[in-house]
Amino acid sequence: MNTILITGATGFLGGAVTVNLLKKSENNRLLLLVRGDSPAEGLSRLQSNLAKFGVAQNLLDTLTTDNILIGDLAEPERFTADPRLDSVTHVLNCAAVASFGANPYIWKVNVEGTFTFASRMNQVSGLKRFIHVGTAMSCAPEANTLVTESKLNTLRDQHIVEYTWSKATVEKMMSEMLPELPLVIARPSIVVGHSDHGCTPSPSIFWVFRMALTLGKFMCELDDRIDVVPVDYCADALELLLTAENVDKSIIHISAGLNSSVTFAEIDKAMAKASGNVPVGKSYQKVNYRELAESKKNFASLFGPCNERIVLRAMNLYGHFSKLNVVFCNEKLLELGMPPSSKFTDYLHHCVTSTQDSTIAELMAVDFK
Ligand SMILES: NC(=O)c1ccc[n+]([C@@H]2O[C@H](COP(=O)([O-])OP(=O)(O)OC[C@H]3O[C@@H](n4cnc5c(N)ncnc54)[C@H](OP(=O)(O)O)[C@@H]3O)[C@@H](O)[C@H]2O)c1
Repeated sequence: MNTILITGATGFLGGAVTVNLLKKSENNRLLLLVRGDSPAEGLSRLQSNLAKFGVAQNLLDTLTTDNILIGDLAEPERFTADPRLDSVTHVLNCAAVASFGANPYIWKVNVEGTFTFASRMNQVSGLKRFIHVGTAMSCAPEANTLVTESKLNTLRDQHIVEYTWSKATVEKMMSEMLPELPLVIARPSIVVGHSDHGCTPSPSIFWVFRMALTLGKFMCELDDRIDVVPVDYCADALELLLTAENVDKSIIHISAGLNSSVTFAEIDKAMAKASGNVPVGKSYQKVNYRELAESKKNFASLFGPCNERIVLRAMNLYGHFSKLNVVFCNEKLLELGMPPSSKFTDYLHHCVTSTQDSTIAELMAVDFK
């Protein structure tokens, strides 16, 4: 029997992998680090999140307050003395401030708290694996490349946002300063939607595509590629990494790779088909920040009620990522036995259906916490 400690189970990736493991609870005892005032409140928030993945109520009811470890990575000393940590065999560390905004907790949680937590787990004698969920963007990739896992970049000025810099920094600290930790770093590329439930679990990043195509303008070329995977694929890969052999000290992309990544033109066609519209196609314009800013006055009429300044800032940030035109090599993951990911355009219609009643401003809030 494994005792698996999962952090971030109230979030998108952590929720998806918790759902997978809950279905195999005969082999796994789950301990879930959740923020909250009490185990009962933490449990209730966790169950509400897992329900978004279509989990049956009777399965949700198998979770009890015994599965909950109340704790906040901003104050790790308040939970690291809990003796239940000493019986953990596997860690899936999905928690982070995953925000492109200027959240004052990014460094405190993603670097300081995460490193303190990893140091504590390094003292657990029966720990077999510590999977840290990083991000493929932690290498600050060079534009127009096929990126391998060998790269990492911890220079602040090479990162578009503090979030990716924080993720790069903690990876380096854990690898260099905790050599005994049975560490596997999983680096997902861009996780958008769920293959069956679309954006019901989370609309994270999907709104960027909707926004760009509604405007008919963005900072990338239409034939630029984007490496997107659905959250259930990411969860299956994380589950595989829990028990995969010979992966200690490895860094592994969870990505679409060359064969399953898609172009913006393909996304345009799939989005149009799912929405009953005509693709933007030839009328699409690649623009720079100044040209985007000139469209600001049209944002509210196109996107619904929104703060135009915040929307422009979001478009600029995500626009910089979009024009990288990078694909993250997935050979290592495929060699471990994972099948290739489905393409974003194969399940995008579920994302359209599940977000049709929400405005852009409502959808984007999840990425600017
Ligand atoms: N989504 C992507 O496209 C993507 C791509 C690459 C890598 N990743 C990585 O995947 C991981 C999960 O991202 P996500 O998209 O699932 O983000 P998410 O939906 O925002 O979930 C973040 C999770 O972390 C928890 N958390 C945040 N601050 C915490 C703290 N101080 N103490 C304890 N828990 C805390 C949140 O708990 P609360 O519910 O209490 O807020 C939530 O459960 C992150 O490490 C991210 O860097 C994501």
